[in-house]
Amino acid sequence: MTTTEAVEGEAARWWELLGDRVRGEVVGARTIAGGASGSAVYGLSVDQPAGEFVLKVASRPGLRERARREVTFYRELAAHVPVLVPEFVVGGEADGTAYLLLTAAGVPTEAERWSEQRWTELATELGRLHREQVLALAIDRGAAARERASAEKLAAGERAWIKLGYERLLAPLWASFEALGAAIRELPACLCHGDFHLGNLLTDPADRFVWIDWQEVHIGHGPGDLALLWHRAEVDGVNPPREAMHTAYAVARGIPDDALLRRAAVASELTLLLLEWPTFFPYLPEPARARMRSRLEHLVALWYR
Ligand SMILES: Nc1ncnc2c1ncn2[C@@H]1O[C@H](COP(=O)(O)OP(=O)(O)OP(=O)(O)O)[C@@H](O)[C@H]1O
Ligand SMILES: [Mg+2]
Repeated sequence: MTTTEAVEGEAARWWELLGDRVRGEVVGARTIAGGASGSAVYGLSVDQPAGEFVLKVASRPGLRERARREVTFYRELAAHVPVLVPEFVVGGEADGTAYLLLTAAGVPTEAERWSEQRWTELATELGRLHREQVLALAIDRGAAARERASAEKLAAGERAWIKLGYERLLAPLWASFEALGAAIRELPACLCHGDFHLGNLLTDPADRFVWIDWQEVHIGHGPGDLALLWHRAEVDGVNPPREAMHTAYAVARGIPDDALLRRAAVASELTLLLLEWPTFFPYLPEPARARMRSRLEHLVALWYR
């Protein structure tokens, strides 16, 4: 059996399982992401009636939790968020596997040649998502806060950065790590995407953004979404216009474009760099690693200014 046949067999098996909740017949299938690790994303072509779909499945316990959160998002919240998301077809669980079927909604976004305006449009959409009206709805519908980073996670981050030669620069930050969280919490709470990078953004035929991958949606304070978006773009050598984005974001969110917002954003970026990036450094090519290190130095300078 070829890989294509295996994927098509798997897709057909799922389609059958969905029974009369779906219509038509699968005529083609491909793996878009994952496959062997307890989670996979398949692209399905269906005939009679014709349609293109994306099927996400997850069976490993940790992954299943995240998949469940995404299904809940599509059921409860998708219709109420002020950004464009794929159309939800069905979602649920079968044979210990969480599944989610969406209509295909666009193609991967390419930001290399984005104008400043395109970036500020995205910041505007993010600001709208973070508005307080959305928060009220999200709370009503069961969205929850994330757990704070554990002591072990902090210790692992500290060890990793010491290994990279940043003991002296970062010692004061580790000693008052709580101050970063406090600066972030100066902003009002809001509904956050939680995994907001360009890989989780599609462009539809009308050139609109389509927001996907809602597995990490949670109640937070907002700048974490900006921080991840910026860092992931920068790792890829793309430079988002931070200042213009801050302004567009604040206007759309309905909060002041002030020092508090800037400080919360710096704190978010620092938190992300200190706790999350060390895990990925071994997989990054050197120019990207160097960019993140120099970003860190710049952020530390901003924080202690
Ligand atoms: N509704 C959709 N329409 C078109 N393409 C989609 C859709 N949903 C997902 N995709 C494609 O599949 C990829 C993986 O989907 P998604 O990000 O939701 O899953 P994931 O499990 O988080 O995978 P990854 O870990 O690769 O981010 C996306 O980056 C996108 O290219
Ligand atoms: Mg994704």
